[in-house]
Amino acid sequence: MPSQTAILDAHYMARALQLARLGQYSTHPNPRVGCVIVRDGEVVGEGWHVRAGEPHAEVHALRQAGERAKGACAYVTLEPCSHHGRTPPCAEALVKAGVTRVVAAMQDPNPQVAGQGLRRLAEAGIEVASGVLEQDARALNPGFLKRMEHGLPFVRAKLAMSLDGRTAMASGESQWITGPAARGAVQRLRARASVVLTSAESVLADNARMTVRADELGLDAETTALVLSRPPLRVLIDGRLRLPLNAPFFQAGPSLVVTAAAPDPRYAEAGHELLCLPAGDGRVDLPGLLDALAARGVNEILLEAGAGLVGAFAQHGLIDEYQLFVAGTFLGSQARPLLDWPLANMSEAPRLKITEMRAVGDDWRVTAIPLPAAGV
Ligand SMILES: NC(=O)c1ccc[n+]([C@@H]2O[C@H](COP(=O)([O-])OP(=O)(O)OC[C@H]3O[C@@H](n4cnc5c(N)ncnc54)[C@H](OP(=O)(O)O)[C@@H]3O)[C@@H](O)[C@H]2O)c1
Repeated sequence: MPSQTAILDAHYMARALQLARLGQYSTHPNPRVGCVIVRDGEVVGEGWHVRAGEPHAEVHALRQAGERAKGACAYVTLEPCSHHGRTPPCAEALVKAGVTRVVAAMQDPNPQVAGQGLRRLAEAGIEVASGVLEQDARALNPGFLKRMEHGLPFVRAKLAMSLDGRTAMASGESQWITGPAARGAVQRLRARASVVLTSAESVLADNARMTVRADELGLDAETTALVLSRPPLRVLIDGRLRLPLNAPFFQAGPSLVVTAAAPDPRYAEAGHELLCLPAGDGRVDLPGLLDALAARGVNEILLEAGAGLVGAFAQHGLIDEYQLFVAGTFLGSQARPLLDWPLANMSEAPRLKITEMRAVGDDWRVTAIPLPAAGV
């Protein structure tokens, strides 16, 4: 039987995680973090991190608690920071406020923190604990953790497909395979990403802008405003610079264009950044692109393209999660597949773990995670 303390710790940490989730659309490149301060069984302070450069969750919660933080327990979804970044260290703020116990869901893998925040608290005589609801805390920040632990962003590939696994007609037509509820879910996936990554092919085929559309988000006014205050960076892979600068994609705001072609000053003149990243085969260097985006502090990428580019990412082993929206229709055998990925034998077929399946309007949403290849 879990102890009374363990039950209460899980209860208050669940609330802190709920608060952290409020930052899902706005904290990057920082992690989403929530904090709850409890004294004598009463919640005296709550806070969540809203935006990079603004106070951390602990600071908001301590401000709300005021004097009542003395002798209290602070629940934080990520180890309090110990370094001077854009804001002063939260470990110091907790010590100063006089809390007597700090419970973290997980240690911060950021090398600038990595256990030092908890150590600093323990040195100050504060009782510390870590690992409460750790799996949930990790699930909140897949991009931040991947970047800190592996130096890469988290890549989430979204595809809409028919029941026969097709993603576009042979003509390139693909609007709309799924219904409005699924499209709303895709808008929210865009909104939480640091980067929306697509290809010139897909943008040309769909005349797409790849922006976040406020009216399709299905979020309240305050959250929508938060989303629009930091829209994801739109990144276009255009190996041969075929998408004209007067396309709606470019008219919709600044973007990053990644190419295998030679530099062209017209992009900068039009307000877009051009990154030349040729691979040996005359195409864009996809692993190199992920390195470059991680170096810019990109946590989560939403990859929204067709069978060619998503297939290339899959073959390079660069996809962390698939979000497949499945519609009750057949597009037929001439339509484009889910992935351009020729496989000859069952032994080559990658395995995935389906972690979730849920109805979204009339469609189904499947979340699947690639499993490591056998023997790896
Ligand atoms: N159902 C859906 O969810 C969905 C989503 C998006 C798009 N679509 C549809 O999909 C169709 C487009 O699919 P598509 O396969 O023609 O295009 P795509 O997958 O969007 O993009 C293909 C492009 O990706 C780049 N690429 C491919 N392999 C690469 C590699 N190994 N390394 C680097 N770059 C690589 C190439 O760009 P360069 O040629 O520039 O080098 C290639 O032309 C459209 O009809 C669109 O409507 C469907």
